[in-house]
Amino acid sequence: MDSFAIERVREFGAQIAIVLGSGLNSLVRDPAPKRIIPYREIGGLPGSAVKGHHSRFVLDEMSGTRIVFAQGRAHLYEGYSAPDVTAGVRFLARAGIKKLVLTNAAGSVNPDFAPGSWMMITDHLNLTGTTPLLGKRDFVDLTDAYSPGWRGRFAEAARAKGLKLHEGVYAGVLGPQYETPAEVRMLRLLGADAIGMSTVCETIQARALGLEVAAFSCLTNWAAGLNPGPLSHREVLAAGEASGAEFMRLFGAAL
Ligand code: HPA
Repeated sequence: MDSFAIERVREFGAQIAIVLGSGLNSLVRDPAPKRIIPYREIGGLPGSAVKGHHSRFVLDEMSGTRIVFAQGRAHLYEGYSAPDVTAGVRFLARAGIKKLVLTNAAGSVNPDFAPGSWMMITDHLNLTGTTPLLGKRDFVDLTDAYSPGWRGRFAEAARAKGLKLHEGVYAGVLGPQYETPAEVRMLRLLGADAIGMSTVCETIQARALGLEVAAFSCLTNWAAGLNPGPLSHREVLAAGEASGAEFMRLFGAAL
């Protein structure tokens, strides 16, 4: 991994990083070139070829706090391995990041969680069939994978700002196809509130490195079968863009 890039982030001095998922990339606008580190400049970090995902770190500030924005992520469904899709998390840990915020787009399976709203992840179901710790004998405790302390702070910030913030369980699946209605019914029975194709491997890697994690799903659609129409990636991106600003208000308030 590129030690020059690690040093650049270290010198910036941020403790918090946020991974921006589908549709949320537009929240970082036109940064100065000196604040940008493209993933391709860092050995071992795959970019994403999926529309709506940039592939770069941006060093910036929010509410007076230094933040590393990770614009875009690689996904298992693109053919990358679990160690590949978590290389960015290892990079950030080496660069001095202590707290990681993960965002994603997800389909809602909870009838009370309508598309357009946000869900703070309280726990996950890793249904990807893999883990970044494969082969490591690293028996990481995931009891409080999503920091209870930080969750409390976000819930408080949401209340103070009058923003709706659901809380629930995220089922991480492999993709890239969306689920069948039968799979959606199964996932609901298993205890899922939202379904998505990222985040779980990053959380596992972050916890293994001792980072504190908070994660949020932008509920972009009803999962398959809960709505009459078919699902489209374009719709998911558009819904992400529409709700992104609201999340940034929440994030700013929680800082
Ligand atoms: N299923 C899985 N992943 C998703 C969905 C979905 O319905 N929406 C956005 N990402």
